[in-house]
Amino acid sequence: MFGVLTLALGALVFLTWQVLAARADDSADEELTHEANKFRAFAASPAAASFQRPEDLLDRWLQSNLPDDSEALFTIVNGNPYHRSQGSPPARLDTDTAFVRHLAGAKEPAYGWIDSTAGRVRYGVLPVRIGAQPVRAQLVVLEFRDLIAQPSMDAARALVIIAALTLVLAAGASWLVTGRVLAPIRQLRTTAERISETDLRRRIDVVGNDDVAHLARTFNTMLDRLEDAFVAQREFVDNAGHELRTPITVIRGHLELMGDDPRDRAETKALVLDELARMNRMVDDLLVLAKSDRPGFLELGEVNLTELVVEVVAKARPLAERAWRVAATADATIVADGQRLTQTLMQLVSNAVRHTKTDDRIEVGSYVDADGSVLLWVADSGPGVPPEDRERIFERFARGTAQRRTEGAGLGLAIVRSIARAHGGDVRLAAGPGARFELTLPRGVEAE
Ligand SMILES: Nc1ncnc2c1ncn2[C@@H]1O[C@H](COP(=O)(O)OP(=O)(O)OP(=O)(O)O)[C@@H](O)[C@H]1O
Ligand SMILES: [Mg+2]
Repeated sequence: MFGVLTLALGALVFLTWQVLAARADDSADEELTHEANKFRAFAASPAAASFQRPEDLLDRWLQSNLPDDSEALFTIVNGNPYHRSQGSPPARLDTDTAFVRHLAGAKEPAYGWIDSTAGRVRYGVLPVRIGAQPVRAQLVVLEFRDLIAQPSMDAARALVIIAALTLVLAAGASWLVTGRVLAPIRQLRTTAERISETDLRRRIDVVGNDDVAHLARTFNTMLDRLEDAFVAQREFVDNAGHELRTPITVIRGHLELMGDDPRDRAETKALVLDELARMNRMVDDLLVLAKSDRPGFLELGEVNLTELVVEVVAKARPLAERAWRVAATADATIVADGQRLTQTLMQLVSNAVRHTKTDDRIEVGSYVDADGSVLLWVADSGPGVPPEDRERIFERFARGTAQRRTEGAGLGLAIVRSIARAHGGDVRLAAGPGARFELTLPRGVEAE
């Protein structure tokens, strides 16, 4: 950044310098042309007609013409320097014999550049001829370019100094400002480095109300969420481990105590297989739960609500002898994951079977609201859910208070809820009598 600034200022100064130098050359040229024209006008005037000798005409010109500070005139007669203009020139060139000899040969006006002790000089030599006489006298006009350029060069030098000063000031200021801005960010970084996966409790001190404070606050909120997620995950693993340990203990106990009696062995085998099946189901359920908040969990397709409900009842009928009913169904097709919806309804149906007796009523139904949202429900005429259980039954591993261990792991409703939420909907327990679980799906369900 600083380098770029230096480069830009350097380029600016260099360009300015070049432009000024070119302009100084031009103005030296202009001055020279101007002087030459003035002299030509004088030589052509009637006042000049009276001179017989060129040196007289030149003397007259030198007397009547006062050069600028950056100018000088001298005359050459018969190849030698003759007279100089009034005042002292910035540098003497009439004493340069080689130069004078070179100029003395000029029969036509000529121009050129020469170096002097006062810098570069633009010169012009104008030969003077009177009548038909041969040329033997010249007027030499000298324009000291560096003196002409002096004021603008001074300005350029001032520019360079100002640019350098600005650069130094800007560097100092940006150093101070970035230091102040970066200090809180540095603190943020060190805190972030100290936070490890095992200790997510650290937070960043938020001071003030600026952008950095905002960043720190956002960072803290992110940490809150991360900590929640870690705690939830740990709980999940703890619960799962605990729940899986029970059947393992049961299986091991039975196998250890198993005798040689064939009837005893057969009984133990049946029990062990049963426990293993339960474990298998639990692991499957846990996998569904773990997958449910990942992208790609749902495989969306078109689902006809009537077909869905009829199919669920058909599948459920052989499970137990109940008064099965297809309640009102909406003849609508929605975009959803048909298999997951069937899985959801089957969970609710198996709960209903477990909490009802022969000939109790179990009904499954669907309904599309005026705003397009969908309602799917499973209701039974069983005892319903006691008020103290209404909230917690949806949590993982939460069974009803009056439940026996062997009846289920308590994962069914948790799965129902995560499938509903993956669809952007939810599940709720409607008011009794009996139990009525309602699944709500928003209109035009879309994948998360
Ligand atoms: N239809 C119902 N009638 C009365 N209580 C119910 C009904 N459905 C669920 N419950 C209560 O909610 C609790 C949680 O149900 P959930 O389906 O989550 O677990 P589960 O059925 O016990 O076990 P799993 O489904 O894992 O085999 C049940 O233990 C039961 O107490
Ligand atoms: Mg269940």
